[in-house]
Amino acid sequence: MAKRVTEVFDRGEVTDAMVGEAAQFFSDNYGIWAQQFPDGSHHGKPGSRVKLSASRLRAQCLPEGSRSSYARVTVDGVLAGHAFACRWQYGDRHVFWVTQLVVHREYRERRLATTLLLALQQGQDDVFGIMSSHPAACKALAKAFGNFAFPQVSLDFARDHAANVLLGSPISYIKDAKLRGSLFCPNDTTGIISGVDSDFFVDHAEPLEALEWLKDEEQWPLGDLPDGYEFLFLFEVSRRRRPRSLSSSRSLGRGEKSQTS
Ligand SMILES: CC(C)(COP(=O)(O)OP(=O)(O)OC[C@H]1O[C@@H](n2cnc3c(N)ncnc32)[C@H](O)[C@@H]1OP(=O)(O)O)[C@@H](O)C(=O)NCCC(=O)NCCS
Repeated sequence: MAKRVTEVFDRGEVTDAMVGEAAQFFSDNYGIWAQQFPDGSHHGKPGSRVKLSASRLRAQCLPEGSRSSYARVTVDGVLAGHAFACRWQYGDRHVFWVTQLVVHREYRERRLATTLLLALQQGQDDVFGIMSSHPAACKALAKAFGNFAFPQVSLDFARDHAANVLLGSPISYIKDAKLRGSLFCPNDTTGIISGVDSDFFVDHAEPLEALEWLKDEEQWPLGDLPDGYEFLFLFEVSRRRRPRSLSSSRSLGRGEKSQTS
């Protein structure tokens, strides 16, 4: 049976070599640029892989002074997935934000994304968020931390607090994100319910396929995905009402490994 090893590192423990490996992993596995961009937008070559340098990855996911962490999972020694998360305070609430979640193309739909997020959990978080074009990333977050059956998630917290939660982020692209969707603007005609206009024209073929399937199964609460947009999935889980599995399970310590076969 395949041997899975999951490791978690605080920001200060993430070496340049680890960031370099993560940047390469992202560039090999994240996705490709869309075939068409609106006039005036600046992106990579249409159809080519979206690439990320180590320095940009560090700046976006592990910025100086932030409470951020990195988790990676190997399967039989092969790097099969990674996740970056950042924490900040919103009033008396603790925000856990997924800044990057990527699973190797050959290892998807084996719960590795869910496993990575669970490895990053710490007991004190109450608000969970992600901006992603991929419905499976939102689903993994719901699975790991929500105490609801997807898609029966209340979007009330997102509607009332998203703007201020984002404003408190130490990560500039999150802080500056432009909220979009009927949840925030009743006149919105794009079809998205909760999203951001990230001006990120990545190819949506794979997320749209997942979206179609989830919509057919009536499992999708966040609406459509216009080009250049990402879903914003944000919810609160009261610490008192947290699932037993979450409040009792212990997260991995600094640099600690968990192994399963
Ligand atoms: C999004 C991504 C990280 C998901 O990784 P994964 O390891 O396949 O996810 P999991 O196996 O943990 O699945 C999480 C949930 O999504 C569902 N799911 C996963 N892929 C799916 C797909 N293609 N279509 C429909 N549902 C899907 C799973 O069934 C699971 O739901 P369940 O627990 O109710 O069964 C992976 O597809 C990926 O790396 N995509 C490219 C990068 C990207 O878009 N990342 C998100 C941006 S931050």
